[in-house]
Amino acid sequence: MAFDFEPRSAAFIADPYPALAQARAAAALFHSKALGGWVAAGFADCKALLKDPRLSADRMTPFFGHLAPSARDAVATLEAMMKRWAVFVDPPVHTRLRGLMNKAFSPRAIESLAPAIQARVDALIDGFEGRAQIDFIREFAYPLPACVIADLLGVPIADVDLLKRWSDDLGAFVLTARASPDKYVRAEAAAKEMQSYFDALVTARRAKPGTDAASWLIEAADAIAAMDGPELTATCVLLLFAGHETTTHLLGNGLWALLAHPAELARLRARIGDDAFVAGAVEEMLRWDGPSLAQVRIAREDIDWNGTKLQRGARVFLMLAGAARDPSNCEAPDRFDLSRAETPHLAFGYGIHFCIGAPLARLEARIAFQRLLARLPHLALVPGPLEWSDNLVVRGLHRLEIEIGVAAGGRAHA
Ligand code: HEM
Repeated sequence: MAFDFEPRSAAFIADPYPALAQARAAAALFHSKALGGWVAAGFADCKALLKDPRLSADRMTPFFGHLAPSARDAVATLEAMMKRWAVFVDPPVHTRLRGLMNKAFSPRAIESLAPAIQARVDALIDGFEGRAQIDFIREFAYPLPACVIADLLGVPIADVDLLKRWSDDLGAFVLTARASPDKYVRAEAAAKEMQSYFDALVTARRAKPGTDAASWLIEAADAIAAMDGPELTATCVLLLFAGHETTTHLLGNGLWALLAHPAELARLRARIGDDAFVAGAVEEMLRWDGPSLAQVRIAREDIDWNGTKLQRGARVFLMLAGAARDPSNCEAPDRFDLSRAETPHLAFGYGIHFCIGAPLARLEARIAFQRLLARLPHLALVPGPLEWSDNLVVRGLHRLEIEIGVAAGGRAHA
């Protein structure tokens, strides 16, 4: 029998890498019945396909188009909003939206967030005081990106829980294949609430601009009348949404990798003041078992891919996690090794949709690991089963129980 993925099997969810290796060996592109589309898992193919203009990033039009009319009506706000997200549109609309988003993500703007990120990181670690054990996901990796994006967008920190809940409801819809009876209802409700929340934010910033990304975006958009109101709101929601779960899982998967490799953890501790080394370690975390499992594209026309015929409308799954472990592109790719000279990966995508938040995620992760390791000298995994999400786009842990080496009542400070 020909090889196929079983993306919902417990074995794949726990460890997709053996199946990804089989996929790479099977063919440059193979048809997966289970996924209902073509799969590429090698580095060179994923990279080339991500850059190929014959593939569209608009996977929302076919998705919403396949819904029954009543189901589609029930998610009308969501559809209108998501179809305006830069990540799901092609040029020329993408070029215009991306150009505007770039204004809010200049290297200077991101670098200027470093002190605020460090303050958020330290405040979360302060909260561990007196604790011997924490769930790293719930108590650190989950709240940190939410606070940082709130700072970036200029949203009051008091609203973070609300925004996080909306973002999670969208995530359950966008990212998971799991059927949950109310996921459409919740995602639509979240889209409506986010829309009115960000409409109000945009109105307030127009009246009184601040120094946040939302203000820069509005200023840039207004200056050349380049984004309409619904696009501005949708872009704010995209920024809020796109940086959450991914960054959470970079932190969670990264810490898990370190704790599972004590010699690498010791090596990182020894160089914790060396920004370049820690930044390199973050790249290895992204490569070895990062948060990006796959991205989807749609063939805009019939395509002949080195002899494999893709029909117009075919779905193509680019297995980014498979690309990162491709031995033709990386020496000993299954080894977690913080001192690699090169860490080739596609965790932030490639081509025109390359992640606009990559510099922010990298900065956040570097500061987070520097502060965590400096302030918590004894970290260890609490033995127990790991529960990975069943999500085909983003890979991450639901919980990560760790010992932080302080007796109850002690201080979690170095
Ligand atoms: C470790 C963390 C992150 C990972 C692994 C990640 C991954 C990705 C990937 C793979 C893409 C490309 C999607 C595609 O090709 O269809 C992407 C795009 C995007 N990401 Fe991220 N991301 C992260 C953090 C962030 C953050 C912090 C933000 C914003 C605050 C952000 C905002 C975006 C946006 C707006 C796009 C769409 C860009 C475009 O279409 O031009 N991401 N991200």
